Amino acid sequence: MSENKIESVLREDRVFEPPRSFVEQATFKPDDIQALYDAANSDHEGFWADQAQKHIDWHKPFTQTLDSTDAPFFKWFTDGQLNVSYNCLDRHLDTRGDQTAIIFEADDGEVEHISYRELHARVCRFANALKANGLGKGDRAVIYLPNVPQATIAMLACARIGAIHSVVFGGFSAPSLRDRIDDAEAKMLITADGNYRGGKLIPLKDVADKALSQGCESIDKVIVLKRSGTDVSMQSGRDLWWHDAIDGQAETCEPEWVDAEHPLFILYTSGSTGKPKGIQHSSGGYLLGAIVTCRWVFDLRDDDVFWCTADVGWITGHTYITYGPTACGATQVMFEGVPTYPEPDRFWKMVDTHQVTIFYTAPTAIRALMKHGDEYPQRHALDSLRILGTVGEPINPEAWMWYRQVIGHERCPIVDTWWQTETGGHMITPLPSYSKTKPGSVTHPLPGISAEILDESGKPVTEAGSGGVLVVTKPWPYMLRTIWNDPERYKETYFGMYDAHTYVAGDSAQRDEQGNFRILGRIDDVVNISGHRLGTMEVESALVAHTSVAEAAVVSRPHDVKGEAIVAFVILKTGDGNDELASDLRNWVAEQLGAIAKPEEIRFADGLPKTRSGKIMRRLLRTVARGDEVTQDVSTLENPQILEQLQARGS
Ligand code: WT7
Repeated sequence: MSENKIESVLREDRVFEPPRSFVEQATFKPDDIQALYDAANSDHEGFWADQAQKHIDWHKPFTQTLDSTDAPFFKWFTDGQLNVSYNCLDRHLDTRGDQTAIIFEADDGEVEHISYRELHARVCRFANALKANGLGKGDRAVIYLPNVPQATIAMLACARIGAIHSVVFGGFSAPSLRDRIDDAEAKMLITADGNYRGGKLIPLKDVADKALSQGCESIDKVIVLKRSGTDVSMQSGRDLWWHDAIDGQAETCEPEWVDAEHPLFILYTSGSTGKPKGIQHSSGGYLLGAIVTCRWVFDLRDDDVFWCTADVGWITGHTYITYGPTACGATQVMFEGVPTYPEPDRFWKMVDTHQVTIFYTAPTAIRALMKHGDEYPQRHALDSLRILGTVGEPINPEAWMWYRQVIGHERCPIVDTWWQTETGGHMITPLPSYSKTKPGSVTHPLPGISAEILDESGKPVTEAGSGGVLVVTKPWPYMLRTIWNDPERYKETYFGMYDAHTYVAGDSAQRDEQGNFRILGRIDDVVNISGHRLGTMEVESALVAHTSVAEAAVVSRPHDVKGEAIVAFVILKTGDGNDELASDLRNWVAEQLGAIAKPEEIRFADGLPKTRSGKIMRRLLRTVARGDEVTQDVSTLENPQILEQLQARGS
């Protein structure tokens, strides 16, 4: 076999048709979806122009759809003008002012319902407060808040006045916050005294003070939401309370009409090397992506209760909490807490309480909950659900089947949505009434998205089962526009491998016999054993399929003979590992995938090093597996203590 191919040894033959009961009540029927594909395939730009006219209320209509003259710096709808917060709020007031926009459940279980009329008023008041404190069009505000409605309100208030927000997840450390503030040269910081998550206090203002004392010269004002009621220090002249800032402000605020290309936000994401990248998104194109993907992928309609469990600090929370659902006029649940507090049935209990119809979460959460056993979901009816979604990493078939059977009762289509901070919204995903789904497969690109798999020379990989580099060969409206302050890095990172029209996602993928896409992982997450390139995910899936294993992460270390050898970090469901089990697991993988994939070493641990968004930090594990000293930045690590344990066990 060719050296450049990523080989797949994982077989998956289970295929599920969209349930007939689902198709009957879906808004988008298979024919409607097919019509979208036909339109997009016959005229890419015309298709997106139609969608933009249909779904967005433009203040000034656009006449030019796509400007590619300065590729890869693409512009969409460039002479059109709009306001994103107007589209998320004002346009619903006549038709659904009294409808609930947000059902908020706090960590301690307290529930608050916010109508569209109230949300509009609160956004306007806060927008007026921002202006009164010197924030204007094009200025940057960093938002460092918990997952509470005020985070969404702050984002929409920035959008209302044309200010650019940069949300920093509330779990990030002081140096991470400082770096992001400095890179964006933000004028304002919006934070809270603190909040409780899983019953634990998170001292946001203390962390912010530390960040502010180490740099952040650009910050003029800090607005502080009172949330936990803990004592904090307030620097006079700089810091003011949220409730004082909005005191006396009007409940209306004329939206600032901006060009379609005006930056709506920056969101930092970690690169494989160096400092985080400020991913910059547009106003018009981004909003369009948020709307159409909610409509097509979640089939969002008026009687739905939508729940995306992400935090607003991630792109998932931007697109599928703050912007998409509100622009569609939906009712959604927002949750401050964690899935296992006070008990591992919190999600399932909330699904029943709020009668959630569409539930969107991450594989890491599904696996964690699966580990607690079926009795927790079985305590709840879960009969309001009609669609289940996942995002963030490849989902292993075992977890997919559990999600389908134990949560969805085999009634709900699963949409495994592949996308990235950079892509702004869903890219490759099943459509619930249209697609045959398969565990672990993200199936096919959306209408208007031209995803392909290329080999290193740029030729499409057509052979089923062969892997390659996942690319998007035409610009799409909701793609990133640049990296803040670093257009060269944008060009290099995303368009450096082939040409200025071919977006390189950094993932590897393969197709099956039906042409469906399966994501193999980041290009980096590939090991090369005796000239065979294997996706680490395949070995992980095999390990997790063993009855005693809860979670696994696979990396490689150099090997004299094989080039690289596999080291697997394994978390057991119960008990400690021993040599006998290690040997069983090695043989098990060899049986499942072939001798080539047999791990050289199994290391048992209590947990894996993860980022706060739940991604396993494989680069760190690679360092540990090689016995090297850890010199990487570990400030984004959720559970730093696990590192010492992993190192100790290897000796
Ligand atoms: C990377 C992007 C998009 C919001 C959350 C993560 C991986 C994402 C899937 C999926 C397999 C996936 C990819 C991608 N990824 N969704 N459904 N199946 N892998 O955003 O932090 O920008 O990460 O997450 O590797 O490149 P992000």
